[in-house]
Amino acid sequence: MKLKDRVAIVTGSTSGMGRAIAKKFAQEGAKVVVTGRNEERAKAVVDDIRAEGGEAVYVIVDTSNTDDCKVLLDKTMEEYGTVDILVNNAGMLSMAPLAEVSREEWEKVFNVNVNAALYLTQLVAPIMKEKGKGVIVNTASVASFAAHHGFAAYVSSKHAMAGLSKSMAWELGPEIRVNAIAPGLIHTAMVDSIGGVEALQFMIDACPMKRAGQPEDIANVALFLASDDSSFIDGQVIKVDGGFEA
Ligand SMILES: NC(=O)c1ccc[n+]([C@@H]2O[C@H](COP(=O)([O-])OP(=O)(O)OC[C@H]3O[C@@H](n4cnc5c(N)ncnc54)[C@H](OP(=O)(O)O)[C@@H]3O)[C@@H](O)[C@H]2O)c1
Repeated sequence: MKLKDRVAIVTGSTSGMGRAIAKKFAQEGAKVVVTGRNEERAKAVVDDIRAEGGEAVYVIVDTSNTDDCKVLLDKTMEEYGTVDILVNNAGMLSMAPLAEVSREEWEKVFNVNVNAALYLTQLVAPIMKEKGKGVIVNTASVASFAAHHGFAAYVSSKHAMAGLSKSMAWELGPEIRVNAIAPGLIHTAMVDSIGGVEALQFMIDACPMKRAGQPEDIANVALFLASDDSSFIDGQVIKVDGGFEA
């Protein structure tokens, strides 16, 4: 088991990639803190993990809120007494054109997609530093490298996530390794909310693998980055996108 007894917080693990990451980590022996805002889905993920013999608890929080991030850490410490792995995965899409995006929408997207990762990292880093070891995996995007019409807030937030991940690696090393995964088109609820993979056929066409990814494709890489198998990989934003070229 690659993560035996390590305590992992996975944000946005009530759905999609985060759920797949939480399950994968639990299968590899981690004690997983499942989190998001939807209690029914959080409980279902924890039930699934426990049914497979794994260990997990859920904490319901809005990670875009600094006080909630503190609650998440406090409950993790109460339950498991430490944190070894943080996956900053929670995210939201925004499709307002640049000329129309409101300040409120812009700030919400940044709060969910970037600022939450900063707040949580500021909370867990002292614990990991003290232990002398820790791993952070952030969810960036192919939108960390390229833009498309109509996604300005999302694209900007994901570019920021790439920069934040590299900054974290520089400032938190050598004890804490930080990398980001940049998924391409992955079939999740987020994609279904805008018409499914069919509505994003241009992304499949621009990809030599000619398919959308599945959450497990991301979970496999998250496991690699969270485990000692990647012990000399740091500060990278790794595309997992089937070869997508924007
Ligand atoms: N799907 C893709 O093609 C794709 C591509 C590149 C990058 N990404 C990124 O991958 C990550 C995961 O997305 P996904 O595709 O798996 O989407 P998803 O199935 O919609 O999952 C999003 C997760 O984020 C959580 N979340 C959203 N806002 C939150 C908030 N304010 N506080 C706490 N949790 C919150 C949701 O939980 P609740 O609803 O329970 O709050 C849910 O668990 C995101 O960062 C996304 O930007 C996705």
